[in-house]
Amino acid sequence: MKSYRIALIPGDGIGPEVIAEGVKVLRKVAELDKDINFEFSAFPWGSEYYLEKGKMMPDDALDILSKFDAIYFGAVGVPEVPDWIPAHQLLYKIRRGFNQYINFRPIKRLKGAPCPLKRDVPIDMVYIRENVEGEYTDMGGRHYTGTEAEVVTQVNMFTRHGTERVMRYAFELAKERRSKVASITKSNALMHSMTFWDEVFNYVKQSYPGIETRQVLVDAMAMYMVTEPEKFDVIVASNLFGDILTDLGAALQGGLGFAPSGNINPEKKYPSMFEPVHGSSPKDKGKQVVNPIAAIWAAKLMLDHLGEKVWGEKILKAIEGVLVEGKVRTPDIGGQSTTQAMGDAIADKLAEISSKY
Ligand code: IPM
Ligand code: MN
Repeated sequence: MKSYRIALIPGDGIGPEVIAEGVKVLRKVAELDKDINFEFSAFPWGSEYYLEKGKMMPDDALDILSKFDAIYFGAVGVPEVPDWIPAHQLLYKIRRGFNQYINFRPIKRLKGAPCPLKRDVPIDMVYIRENVEGEYTDMGGRHYTGTEAEVVTQVNMFTRHGTERVMRYAFELAKERRSKVASITKSNALMHSMTFWDEVFNYVKQSYPGIETRQVLVDAMAMYMVTEPEKFDVIVASNLFGDILTDLGAALQGGLGFAPSGNINPEKKYPSMFEPVHGSSPKDKGKQVVNPIAAIWAAKLMLDHLGEKVWGEKILKAIEGVLVEGKVRTPDIGGQSTTQAMGDAIADKLAEISSKY
């Protein structure tokens, strides 16, 4: 019997609603597979906690979380708290503190998922977004604030170690997939950071002669995501470029309700964290109107990471099965079903699928 300890941080807004559905599906896995057990512990951290205690998480949060096999996170953010506070005091604290340097974001068009493209084109790529450095650092500052002489700097930081490891991860992944890696750059404009990025890419690719490579400017990539998404397999990008392009990717695979994300520490020295990309959407809180697929798909990524890939695949098949049937549809995909009804349908479909194996 394998027992996995999962820390739940449902967070703010719609976070708790979607995490509840992911937990529902995980409990179904444990019910169907007598060899798997999950021990869930929920933590009430987030903006409400902040408004009460002046911090998003307790000071020993990372110590507490380090005892878990994985973290399943909903979303943070409320209108009353400036946006950068939840990001810095919770999200980045965990991403950086646990060296989750890979942000794993599949962009895959499932059967039955809506797609804004007119062409019926297959889309199946994975973005490997650098997750702890690059454009996302706290370095920089603001001087002569509010005066004519005001100066603001925001420093980008690219380390050789950090750049190389994210690229190697992308190449290793490509070996298991369709053997293609595209690197996102902007070295025509960013003559220090992105020429360095290209240089490291050209160095790393020499260790992978069997992999087809391509270097694409980020602006061009925004276009190719729409005009030729079928040509891409694994894509490696810096923190900010990966952030932006994966929202575009989310739109292609059905919307933010379909976009999962894994913040991964590949060495497994620390727990990795899995979350839907969509954020807290405060206006929808408690209304049961949002699509839990992104969160359930994130639970699938968590199972993959824990070594339960067969169950991960079955969850994705269950999601696809429900979409193809089209009977249960949340409002984002033109229906009136609740978040819970979608979670129930996917859990039921999972049971149906696994009885066939
Ligand atoms: C994401 C989000 C975060 C990011 C925000 C909430 C800070 O957009 O995970 O994609 O930019 O990393
Ligand atoms: Mn984002």
